[in-house]
Amino acid sequence: MSEIQKAGTLQKLLKPCHDATVRRWTQRLDKCFTISDLKSLFEKRIPPVVGDYFLGGASDERTLRENEAAFERTRFAPNYGIRYDSIDTSTTVAGTKVSMPIIAAPVGSLRTVWPHGEAVAAKAVGEAGTICTLSTLTGTRLEEVRAASPHDCWFQLYLVGGQEVATKAIERAKKAGYTALVLTIDTPVAGLRYRDMRNGSSQAINGGLLQKMRFAPQMSRHLSWLTSYYHDGGLMDFPNIELPGGEPMPYADIGNQLQKAAVTWDDIQWIRDAWQGPIIVKGVHTLHDAQKAADVGAAAIVVSNHGGRQLDRVLPTLDALREIAPHMKDRNIDVLMDGGIRSGGDVAIAIARGAKAVLIGRAYTFGLGTAGHAGVSKAFSILRSELEHTMRQLGCASLAELDESYLRDSRV
Ligand SMILES: Cc1cc2nc3c(=O)[nH]c(=O)nc-3n(C[C@H](O)[C@H](O)[C@H](O)COP(=O)(O)O)c2cc1C
Repeated sequence: MSEIQKAGTLQKLLKPCHDATVRRWTQRLDKCFTISDLKSLFEKRIPPVVGDYFLGGASDERTLRENEAAFERTRFAPNYGIRYDSIDTSTTVAGTKVSMPIIAAPVGSLRTVWPHGEAVAAKAVGEAGTICTLSTLTGTRLEEVRAASPHDCWFQLYLVGGQEVATKAIERAKKAGYTALVLTIDTPVAGLRYRDMRNGSSQAINGGLLQKMRFAPQMSRHLSWLTSYYHDGGLMDFPNIELPGGEPMPYADIGNQLQKAAVTWDDIQWIRDAWQGPIIVKGVHTLHDAQKAADVGAAAIVVSNHGGRQLDRVLPTLDALREIAPHMKDRNIDVLMDGGIRSGGDVAIAIARGAKAVLIGRAYTFGLGTAGHAGVSKAFSILRSELEHTMRQLGCASLAELDESYLRDSRV
């Protein structure tokens, strides 16, 4: 029996284990009421050497903490004495109608937390009536992900492998039916992720048998993850980065490659020529870059610090949004934001502060890593119902009514 046949047999043998995982962890969602509940389950099911990649941020994680803290210190000023029969949470972003102002952000390596994680997430996000953004650095073919969603999807582009390789990805994304290209500008180098260095994740990926054995006790406490992971074929590669010979880029090569993969303002012209559709610039921290994105004709910007994973000590995105949004009103561009959104109340705050919609990264990843499709659906349904609840309490029937007048800075 060849190695490939053996691997295929193992995958088949583990299917009943994965099916049992789906049942057991879906049941646990019944006791989940908030994104923080989902996070606790994610931490139970995913071994730390894998989960830290999703939970962690850059350097000392100040910006990671402050992204959430900026929402924590914002208060509401509701107008009562109003009752609405229905609340409208729909909006239009870069030409696409969405049922709620919440879009799935590009998150790399989702396949390490759930089999075919990117396609599973895209299905649930699309069913919720909103857009899923696929990262370049993912383990499921972009065609499969696009086909899984009943709604529009965006493709996030890194220039890993150079212009020729990226052009191939753009052509594939266009053919598959992605409706916008997201260009992430805040990765001139990979962030300094000390958590990943401390937990030895690179040994877990690249090390020999002895080094890998170090993780055996941890894995033995996370068998439901382990069996699903091997049911899905083990360590993923990057099928959306096709190297010149047609091979996908191996997982282990990515650290070195990312350094050469940042999108610069000079790249936008050739990317636009190849794509010929809406472009969204993600990773905007300053008014300077927001204006530049508008000048090059972007359909939208995402005010984002990559979820605190790139440069530590940058402003929390809610504060950056406050600096940028008022100056972009007369430009023909949608202002989006992400970073630290953990509740529907946070979404309402971001909209009131001038965002047209938000992106969420960790919030839906917690759902995916807990229970796959049901977990992602749960994350979006929690955020939607909390947003509706907040809007009713504030006295706003539609997103257009949310503005700064409903916000106060906390004095505590
Ligand atoms: C584990 C992880 C991987 C990410 N991978 C990418 C990526 O490949 N491309 C990208 O543009 N942003 C990436 N991001 C950033 C997200 O798109 C988004 O900006 C961030 O998660 C928002 O913060 P939040 O997680 O607090 O919602 C990643 C974020 C996380 C947590």
